[in-house]
Amino acid sequence: MKRLLITGGAGFIGANFCHYWSASHPADRLVVLDALTYAGNLASIDELIRSHRVRFFHGDICDSERVASLLREERIDTVVNFAAESHVDRSIEDPQSFLRTNVMGTHALLEAARAAWAQPGAASGRFHHVSTDEVYGSLGPADAAFTESTPYAPNSPYSASKAAADHIVRAYAHTYGTPCTISNCSNNYGPYQFPEKLLPLCIVNILEGRPLPIYGDGLQIRDWLHVRDHCRAIDLILSSSATGETWNVGGGSTEPNIRIVETVCDLIDAEFRQHPELKTRFPRSAPAAGRPARSLMQHVRDRPGHDRRYAVDSGKIGRLGFTAQTPLAAGLATTVRWYLDNENWWRGVVSGAYRTWYARQYGDAAQSGSKADS
Ligand code: NAD
Ligand code: TYD
Repeated sequence: MKRLLITGGAGFIGANFCHYWSASHPADRLVVLDALTYAGNLASIDELIRSHRVRFFHGDICDSERVASLLREERIDTVVNFAAESHVDRSIEDPQSFLRTNVMGTHALLEAARAAWAQPGAASGRFHHVSTDEVYGSLGPADAAFTESTPYAPNSPYSASKAAADHIVRAYAHTYGTPCTISNCSNNYGPYQFPEKLLPLCIVNILEGRPLPIYGDGLQIRDWLHVRDHCRAIDLILSSSATGETWNVGGGSTEPNIRIVETVCDLIDAEFRQHPELKTRFPRSAPAAGRPARSLMQHVRDRPGHDRRYAVDSGKIGRLGFTAQTPLAAGLATTVRWYLDNENWWRGVVSGAYRTWYARQYGDAAQSGSKADS
């Protein structure tokens, strides 16, 4: 039986990981630490908290004393660090918060883990750090996909902060023997993703009849990974005994952004044709106004320093038994369906209504940063 601390467990991938882990390893103990920034939504794991499958603590990974006592009190043997500022556009506006959480926060967590696991009688630990393919920079059209030995060349404040964190994790493994692993994954998609990232932004904007902003020519290529496949990959890494290692995780589905947006448009049009009642539920949507969703696509000014192409070679994790099981077309279709079926979730997170709900559920703990246990 493992005792996991999942940082950032109220965010997109962390919440999916909680659902995945609680279903796949029901005997394990799951503890979530999350600062509940704009991107953290307790509604995403509420059912797990209420059913006592997740114990939730509201707090900041930069607070290493707090983390250290949590590790001790909960006898944590496995840390999975998802907590981060994760949106490239925001990092261009405000790099500072990215350095604080992604770099200093990862360091604070490492220090706390090193101290806790050095105590006499402490469990032997594992620190898994979740990182991104963006640390490798941008590929030219003919370049080979990123491998674990591709030199780091981060181009945005976000990817630079993630690269710095990766180096610190690696240094702790090398210098102190802290049992660390790192995964560098490609663009995730699936349920519970905050609607600032491309896919959920497009879905929500189509349903609200708002423009779909395509940065530049829209021909930037990303490698799309279903979040559930990503969770399976982390599970494989945690069950492997190799520490001090890095694994790349890709979905094996590389597409230009514009194709992704067109596919989402077409999927939503098809849903509205099959379920005409959607026009009543979403009266402002393009299909309700009798227009194809693609009519909302608009080319806008490109993101500064926008990376042109990512592609991930998943050969190494393939040798642990990993294959991405979700074909992109099927994954996009189920993701669109999820957003149609979970309107309350995305309306709540966009409006901030969930924060009011959270304060009602958990009282002052939401503000004070103290324990908000189930
Ligand atoms: P997210 O922005 O949806 O969630 C981040 C979570 O971290 C939120 O719940 C937020 O409240 C929490 N958080 C932020 N600062 C914190 C702090 N100081 N202390 C405690 N909690 C804090 O991010 P995501 O998309 O779920 O990404 C998770 C991880 O995966 C990140 O490390 C990100 O860099 C990495 N990643 C994401 C993608 C992707 O496509 N989403 C791709 C590659 C790597
Ligand atoms: P995003 O979801 O922000 O993830 P990342 O920047 O981490 O890859 O963006 C995915 C791609 O979509 C990226 O190339 C930027 C582009 N994009 C748009 O064209 N329009 C948008 O409104 C957004 C949010 C992103």
